[in-house]
Amino acid sequence: MNRKGIILAGGTGSRLWPITLGVSKQLLPIHDKPMIYYPLSVLMLGGIREVAIITTPEDQAQFQRLLGDGAQWGLQLTYIIQPSPDGLAQAYLLARDFLNGAPSVLVLGDNIFFGHGLPEMLAQADAKAQGGTVFGYRVADPERYGVVDFDANGQVRAIIEKPAKPPSNYAVTGLYYLDARAPDLAAQVKPSPRGELEIADLLEIYRAEGSLNVERMGRGYAWLDTGTHGSLLDAGNFVRTLENRQGLQVGCPDEIAYRQGWISRDNLAVRAKIYAKNDYGRYLAAIVAERV
Ligand code: DAU
Repeated sequence: MNRKGIILAGGTGSRLWPITLGVSKQLLPIHDKPMIYYPLSVLMLGGIREVAIITTPEDQAQFQRLLGDGAQWGLQLTYIIQPSPDGLAQAYLLARDFLNGAPSVLVLGDNIFFGHGLPEMLAQADAKAQGGTVFGYRVADPERYGVVDFDANGQVRAIIEKPAKPPSNYAVTGLYYLDARAPDLAAQVKPSPRGELEIADLLEIYRAEGSLNVERMGRGYAWLDTGTHGSLLDAGNFVRTLENRQGLQVGCPDEIAYRQGWISRDNLAVRAKIYAKNDYGRYLAAIVAERV
């Protein structure tokens, strides 16, 4: 599949002020890595190598400094500016030229996923050329998210953004596989009462034509929130706990690029040297030293 990736990493980060007054939310640390490494890693696990990163005008330079053109990971990164945070569905309008008729996977730059079987789940969504796939995840506080309304037969009746009375506990995660029509369909979406082009309204177009697949992401997965100071810390602690216990990195683009065969062992060795003074570098060096 010629699918391309989009990471939406703009917004005001106002729920995390004053921290995010000076730095983009998606650059904040989640334990030992910048937040955007995690959604980028998800795209890479899904086999995506061409990725557009949408940021605010003020923050673009910092993302470029961090990620460059992506060649260090065998990726092609493109940077797009969102002049103001006018809604998630606007990502498709801004990325229209970049997508150039390709299907896409959009991931929110503040969404963290972890779980055995994630690559297979992504491959399944990728294989669906027509329509869309989103992921429903059970949460205790659905009113904070887009929520799936299932009918008695388990069919999706609607996706409702931040409902006061949630029809289910299934939140829609910030990972959207849509077909090549997404920019055209996003152009039909009108601003909501809060003035945003809502992703829920774009998904409703797919649902109404019967081409929206809501995949349940089971309890074996972690979908972590980074929306509040507490949940940001929790996400960092989750990653730290896992990494310390297993001695394996979560959300490590260098490792994924190498294991996907997108960079060579020599390339990885160069990367390991850059970080030689810390655990990240030692981790990469250990991979370089693995027997093949
Ligand atoms: O995280 C999943 C949830 O993300 C979904 O369940 C909701 O349906 C979806 O609307 C969204 O809800 P949020 O309340 O998290 O949306 P928020 O406005 O915080 O934006 C999500 C991320 O996207 C955030 O990191 C900022 C960024 N963003 C947001 C907007 C509105 C942009 O880059 N540009 C924007 O225009």
